[in-house]
Amino acid sequence: MRCKKCGRAAVINMRQYKLALCETHYVGWIQAQTERYIHEYQMFSRDERVLVAVSGGKDSLALWEVLLDLQYQVDGLYIDLGIGGDAGYSDQSLGKIRQFLAGRPTAARLHVIDLEEEYGATITEAARLTRRGKAKPCSVCGLIKRHVMNRVARQGGYDVLATGHNLDDEAAVLFGNTMQWQIGYLARQAPVLPASAEGLARKVKPFCRFHERETAAYALVRGIDYLYEECPYAVGASSIRYKIVLSEMERNSPGTKLQFYLGFLRARKAGAFEGAAETRPEMRPCRMCGQPTTAGDQCAFCRLWETVDARRSSQ
Ligand code: AMP
Ligand code: FES
Ligand code: ZN
Ligand code: ZN
Repeated sequence: MRCKKCGRAAVINMRQYKLALCETHYVGWIQAQTERYIHEYQMFSRDERVLVAVSGGKDSLALWEVLLDLQYQVDGLYIDLGIGGDAGYSDQSLGKIRQFLAGRPTAARLHVIDLEEEYGATITEAARLTRRGKAKPCSVCGLIKRHVMNRVARQGGYDVLATGHNLDDEAAVLFGNTMQWQIGYLARQAPVLPASAEGLARKVKPFCRFHERETAAYALVRGIDYLYEECPYAVGASSIRYKIVLSEMERNSPGTKLQFYLGFLRARKAGAFEGAAETRPEMRPCRMCGQPTTAGDQCAFCRLWETVDARRSSQ
């Protein structure tokens, strides 16, 4: 396979675009497409400060690098959830991020929030004590990550929070929400989620139109060493099953995932889910942390830690 632009050996063939590219042209393509999506969805400008949430995986590290190369003002945030104990999943993730930074002498700054140090328990412990997570802490984890990301963005004076969600992630979430007709969730799934209340950060997903194999190829070409393993608690998650089904469809018919996602965005833009968005309860600041919440005067995050403290002292 030859590069469509220069005829050298191609490193990737993107069947859905009928486009094969060499190393140099592929890196240029990823950068140009990212820039295009940032403009198209009005994500942020070069005057704004961006906080990119990095997990140690390929997508978020690649995103951080592309945004730095494109001269955006971007710092990183890693939330250490304490999964797997010493030298376990969380420690290895942080190790990959530090390694990434060591090899790239830039002005970028990394914020690290250690859950156990700051709030007194790891995610595993918090889920066990609240029994919210039953066997798996994933729902507690989602709640905690959302809150901490928003808190750091707000306190650090960042205008926008970026995550590394790719097309495979977005198509799988869309598939799940459509299977269950979760209209409220569908109304809020988008490349940009505006700050819906004072004290909430705008959330953006600049990689939402890249396939997972495309971000993996970018990381490989650029020598980004990332953590291959998924979170140990993700095993058996429905999103992984949806990804397998969608990838099977993509194999038979290249372009399926993109068509599914872009068709949804068009329907959303045309107002297909407008009614659902309006039925959200009003946001008010939490009396403990000040972050806007729809859950009355105390947010779900503060309630969670109150329960953790109470259960721990009664044990
Ligand atoms: P996931 O939910 O694991 O697929 O991750 C989706 C995105 O959330 C990643 O691309 C990151 O941008 C962000 N993310 C996930 N885990 C963390 C973490 N522990 N710390 C900071 N950001 C994270
Ligand atoms: Fe949160 Fe796995 S990353 S439970
Ligand atoms: Zn080329
Ligand atoms: Zn709160």
